[in-house]
Order: sequence, then structure tokens, then C-alpha cells
Amino acid sequence: MKANPGGQIDLREVVGRDKVIEQIWDTLEQQSIRINAERRIGKTTIIRKLCDEPRSGWVPISQDLEQYHTALEFAIAVFRQVDGFLSLRRRTARRTKELFTSLGGIEVKGVFKLPSFLNSNETPWKEILSNSILDLIGEKDKQNERPLFLWDEVPYMLESIKKNEGENVAMELLDTLRGLRQTHGRNGLRMVFTGSIGLHHVIKSLKRQNYANAPINDMLLIPVLPLDFKPAKELATKLIQGEGIQTSVLDEAATVVANVSDGFPFYIHHIIKAMKQSGWEGTPDNVEQIVLQQLKDANDPWELNHYRDRISVYYGEEFESAVLEILDEITVSSEALSINYLLTKLKNAGVLDNRDQLIELLKILEQDHYLTRNNLGHYYFQFPLLQRWWKLSRGL
Ligand SMILES: Nc1ncnc2c1ncn2[C@@H]1O[C@H](COP(=O)(O)OP(=O)(O)OP(=O)(O)O)[C@@H](O)[C@H]1O
Ligand SMILES: [Mg+2]
Repeated sequence: MKANPGGQIDLREVVGRDKVIEQIWDTLEQQSIRINAERRIGKTTIIRKLCDEPRSGWVPISQDLEQYHTALEFAIAVFRQVDGFLSLRRRTARRTKELFTSLGGIEVKGVFKLPSFLNSNETPWKEILSNSILDLIGEKDKQNERPLFLWDEVPYMLESIKKNEGENVAMELLDTLRGLRQTHGRNGLRMVFTGSIGLHHVIKSLKRQNYANAPINDMLLIPVLPLDFKPAKELATKLIQGEGIQTSVLDEAATVVANVSDGFPFYIHHIIKAMKQSGWEGTPDNVEQIVLQQLKDANDPWELNHYRDRISVYYGEEFESAVLEILDEITVSSEALSINYLLTKLKNAGVLDNRDQLIELLKILEQDHYLTRNNLGHYYFQFPLLQRWWKLSRGL
């Protein structure tokens, strides 16, 4: 197995995800799912496995939504997938095609084109979406197959739509999808949402625009955690061997890689890649050395600056200093910190003096996987590696 950090790996090289994949298939029997997990943890890899190795009876339709920037583009993309799915079964998306024709659309070599003067405001994207799903479900009833939409980068698309077409359209899209799940859930329709931005940020920003709905609370939240120690070590071992890295202490070296990476497969791939490039022997000390180099590298090969850069975007510029102060305090502390302690520190620093706002910020920092709480409700970094990087990069 070769190191391939961030690339599309061969699905036979995916380790440690069998349990969560089983859990996803089991849950889909009952309801739709949203996967919430830290960036670069392996969400897309799981989606690819669900798509390529479906449980019997399911027919996945997988789409990366990053490329769609309007509700209409999304609706048409769903139609195309449905149409492709049905035509493979010698069926057709009849209702949607009739709708396209009524809108003045034409079919060129099997691809439907709408008149270019139409935009999302003038085009009934909701009807295109609903009819496509109706076509899919209607035809499905005649066969013993359950359609499953696997949608990656949902929050990213919603952000795009919000920017291009306004909050209202993003809200309507979420509501429409929820309506479709409610109407067709009984007929087996299921959706899986995931993406590298937390969906809670998009929904929160919509709520600021008086959006009162809870458009995803019918979907079970399934977390994807880092790899357990065993598969993390297995991955490290296979990569060290696959890259032909010389070592007389394979077991010890792989153990250190698994521990120091916090079980993030992305970092494991990176460590081994850098080890290979260095030409060093695979020893525990060298692994530590490589990790330190990578954490300090100004080119940021592990894309950790994202944890810093996203703060003003996610939390708003008004709370940026408070969030930095919280993380700085926790990173240098040898023990978990209480809300009261943090509030005193933040007050003294002159960055925040409102307890409720602090609690809200801490809640989001938990949802964003910076922090977690012990049984006393005190906060500490969820991932030691992130804490280590934070400390280094902030000069603390
Ligand atoms: N289960 C796994 N086994 C081995 N390697 C993995 C596994 N999951 C992820 N990887 C490695 O981590 C990299 C990132 O994985 P992936 O793209 O699935 O993460 P992601 O969570 O979708 O990232 P993003 O948040 O950027 O969308 C992959 O390119 C691969 O190198
Ligand atoms: Mg991804």
C-alpha cells in the first residue's frame, strides 16, 4: 500500500470503517442520516464505500454537491442522476421530462436542456426536484430496490446557494428535501448528508434570518471518529511496508505513528509519505522528528491552518478574539478548564464578559471538534495533535 494523503485511495485500502458502515446501513432501514465529523477524517471515503459496496437491496446514487451553486443546478443534477438510474433499468423519468418540455426544454442526445434565459427564480426547481424523486419512487415500486442519495458537501452547496440566491432559497431547499423525506420515507427513500463544513453553521446562519424550522432533525446524526488504535496501526504498518521504508522496529514505529496521529488516516498517510521522502529509517524517534517538522512546516502540509482561519468565518469577527483566548488558555493548561475560570480569563483579557455567550461559543467549539468536556463539564482539546499544533503555531 502506498501513501496517498488526500488522494482517492483504492477502496481495498480503506481500513477501520466496517463498524460505522454497518451502523449506517442498519440506521438507513429506519431513517436518513447526516454524518458530522471533523474535516479530513475520512467522510468521503466512507461515502465511496457505501456507494461501491451497498448492502443488498440498496441502490446508491452518489453526488458531490460542491459543484452546484444554485438550487436549479442541484435540481437538474438530481434529475440527471435519476434519469440515468432509470434508463439503465429501461425506464424513464416521465413526469420530469414532461415538466421540462412544458418549460420549453429540449432533449439533445438524451440530455435535457432548458432555455438559457431561465434562471432559478423563473424555473420551478422545486418541481424539478420533487418530480425527479417522484419518478424514482414511482418506478422503484415496480422493482425491489431502495434508492439512497449519498450527498457529499451539502453544507458547501447550501453556502453557495445562500451567497448566490439568498438565504430564502437555501432555507426552501432544506425544507423541500425534508418534505420529500417525509412524503417518500415510507416508500424507502433515504438520504445521507455529509460535508467538510459543519451543517450546524449553515443552519445557524439561516436562523439569524428568522428561519425557525428544524430541517434536519429527522435525520440521525452519526459521528465519524478517528480510527481506533488497531486499524490506525494496521494502516501505518501497511504503508511503511508498502513504501519500502527500512526499519528493524516495525511494530514500535507503527505504534508511534498510530498514537501521534490521533488515528486520523490523513495524517498517517502524510507521516509515512514524509518518512519516505526523508529517506530515514522507520524508528519511533524518527517518526516524532517527522511529525514535529510537519507541524512546523510553513507550507502546512496537513492543512492545519484551516483550524485557525475558519474561526472568523464560523464564529463571526466579533467573537474571534474570544475564541482565540479560549483556545489559547486551554492549550497551555495541564488540566481541563471550567466555564467560570474561562469567563474570568476572558473578562480580564477584555474580550468577553457574557456567560451565556461564552457557553454558546464553547458549545460550537465542541461541535467543531476543537474541544470536549470531562465529567465535571470542564473543557480540554479533543485531539492532542491539534492542541500540539495550536500551541506551536500560536507561540505559546
Ligand atoms: N479508512 C481509511 N483508511 C485509509 N486511509 C484513509 C481512510 N479514510 C481516509 N483516508 C485517507 O485520508 C484522506 C482523506 O480522506 P477523505 O477525503 O475521505 O476525508 P474527508 O473527511 O472527506 O475530508 P474533507 O473534510 O476534506 O472532505 C484520504 O485521501 C486517504 O489518504
Ligand atoms: Mg470529503
